[in-house]
Amino acid sequence: MSYVALQGGHSANGGSRMGYETVDFARLQTPGNVLTFGRFETPGLSLSGVNLIVVPSAEHAAHLAADRVWEVLAAEGQRVIGTATGGTMEPIWGEIHRRLVPVSLDCRQLVAVGLDEYVGLPPDCPQSYRAENLRNLGPLARFGFNPAENLHLPTTWNAGEGRPLTNEELLIECGRYERTVGENRPAVQLLGIGSDGHIGFSMPWSAKSSPASGTHLVTLSTETREANARFFGGDINAVPKHALTMGLGTLHHMAEAGAQLLLVATGQAKQDALFAALCGPVWSGCPASFLRLFPNVTVIADEAAAARLIR
Ligand code: PGA
Repeated sequence: MSYVALQGGHSANGGSRMGYETVDFARLQTPGNVLTFGRFETPGLSLSGVNLIVVPSAEHAAHLAADRVWEVLAAEGQRVIGTATGGTMEPIWGEIHRRLVPVSLDCRQLVAVGLDEYVGLPPDCPQSYRAENLRNLGPLARFGFNPAENLHLPTTWNAGEGRPLTNEELLIECGRYERTVGENRPAVQLLGIGSDGHIGFSMPWSAKSSPASGTHLVTLSTETREANARFFGGDINAVPKHALTMGLGTLHHMAEAGAQLLLVATGQAKQDALFAALCGPVWSGCPASFLRLFPNVTVIADEAAAARLIR
């Protein structure tokens, strides 16, 4: 394990306003680094291919992730950002929306690919991941981003007939979406982690939670549905039971093609999952553990999520 001295980093917005040095992501070329901000010490931790950045708070994590996403948004020409949904992503997009106010970008050729989508919700339902992505990316429309053409998510609803796709149609959609992601390789793919160790909606113990799996249909675990019930008025019965998700194989191909997989973990509820992902066995019991086999993975964790990794 090696430590990297923090460099005076750069970010397209002219630097962080959080009072810490930003990480120069371009320097994260040596896998297995642990970078800590502030007072942390990291005991023996074998990360293999993953770079871990530990920051004091969820706010710091959001700023740091926003720095990296901003590099993609502020670039020019054709580029792809891989999006994720969930509570961890909210402050990241909040920070990006704040940064958008004084600037002008050209997002006409920006493409977004989303990780997953529920089965059973029409796309205009506020809890659908299309709706959530539109809330996150919508402010980019004034810079020319065209979500109707350039926001890609698995399709799980037949809008013409007002019904969810059948299982057969969903399986066809998995192949189509896998091709879509293959044709639109992100520079950065944002990832959250479930408290059960899921990545995207690749569920623990599923035979599909392996690096051989592309986009697939999943049955959501009870833990995942319980965790997401907060977005459905606290009613677990309102949380769909199925979803389509990019697989770990989708992410592996993406990383091999040069995408940075940027996992953000904040809060105490993630500390066991993050510990299992980085220090436990590499197995389907913790789908996030497979990230250790992939190149180009960076984890940003706050002190609470990294509590079992730091002393
Ligand atoms: P959360 O979800 O950010 O809402 O905790 C993360 C995930 O399920 O990937």
